[in-house]
Amino acid sequence: MAGEQPSLAVIEEEARLAIAEARSLPALAEVRARFLGKKGSVGAVLRGIGALAADERARVGEAANVAKDRIEALVAERRAALEAGARDHELSARRLDVSLPGVRAPRGHLHPITQIERDIVAFFTGLGFAVEEGPEVETQWNNFEALNIPPDHPARDMQATFFVDGGHVLRTHTSPVQIRAMTGRQPPFRFIVPGRVYRNDRSPRHSPMFHQVEGFMVDERVSFADLKGVLYAFQRHMMGADVELRFRASYFPFTEPSAELDYRCLLCSGAGCATCSQSGWIEAGGCGMIHPVVLANCGLDPERFQGFAFGMTLDRAAMLRFGVPNIHLLFEGDLRVLGQI
Ligand code: PHE
Repeated sequence: MAGEQPSLAVIEEEARLAIAEARSLPALAEVRARFLGKKGSVGAVLRGIGALAADERARVGEAANVAKDRIEALVAERRAALEAGARDHELSARRLDVSLPGVRAPRGHLHPITQIERDIVAFFTGLGFAVEEGPEVETQWNNFEALNIPPDHPARDMQATFFVDGGHVLRTHTSPVQIRAMTGRQPPFRFIVPGRVYRNDRSPRHSPMFHQVEGFMVDERVSFADLKGVLYAFQRHMMGADVELRFRASYFPFTEPSAELDYRCLLCSGAGCATCSQSGWIEAGGCGMIHPVVLANCGLDPERFQGFAFGMTLDRAAMLRFGVPNIHLLFEGDLRVLGQI
């Protein structure tokens, strides 16, 4: 026998208890080393074999190996249990509570200009107008000459122009789309044209890029009365049934007669305030009967066809509707500002 050594049965029983009590993988590794490591208890028994009687050696050696295998099996079993427990713990610590309220994605809205534009287009399509569009880089012919604004004409100064290479300009108004829409086609025409326009102009009320909507109608018997009727209906739609309008005689090279359309300031009811520059009226846009020269430039017979046209700035309408004091706030893309509108 192994003299001072505890018996293998005792070692095995101690190991069984220690393994069962190991609470963590490092603790288990430590227990394993204590029993099975180089200096462990089972090792001590094996090392003691040399001192035994020859007939004892084989028996004790085999018993030690059997004990070693059994302890190893207990360790493996315990290790599996600890690993599973660790995984359970990890999973329950990270448990997903599907009943918690989520983080809401911020919800956007259409840009104020887009809202106004869609509103206007919907009104005119309801009257049978079709949407027509044109490019923002335009020929000088479409932007000026065809609209009866020759190169040396002082009316060119009405619109501070951005010039582009090759005789093109950034269109200064949506009126060139009149030329595009009418050339090579036969009336009746009823078109509504929303779009961006550009003028070299900057102030709290002017942006070098802004939005216009052009409308025009051409047929064999279109009169100024039709123009007034359409614009009255439109402004009532935009501003309410009791909107007050006035047509003020004006000048545009491409309309004759020409007028500027004003509406009674809604903020001060005409008494005069900062929004209407104390005048009681706010400009809505220009309009008039399409000049015979313009019709002829598009290949139409001015003796047979007449029409009206109008052009309005969208941005001013958006500023008034949404109470935006400075036009640039509309275009800076600051969501803190746009979110309030
Ligand atoms: N194109 C003109 C402007 O931008 C507005 C206008 C359009 C006037 C159609 C009359 C007829 O100032």
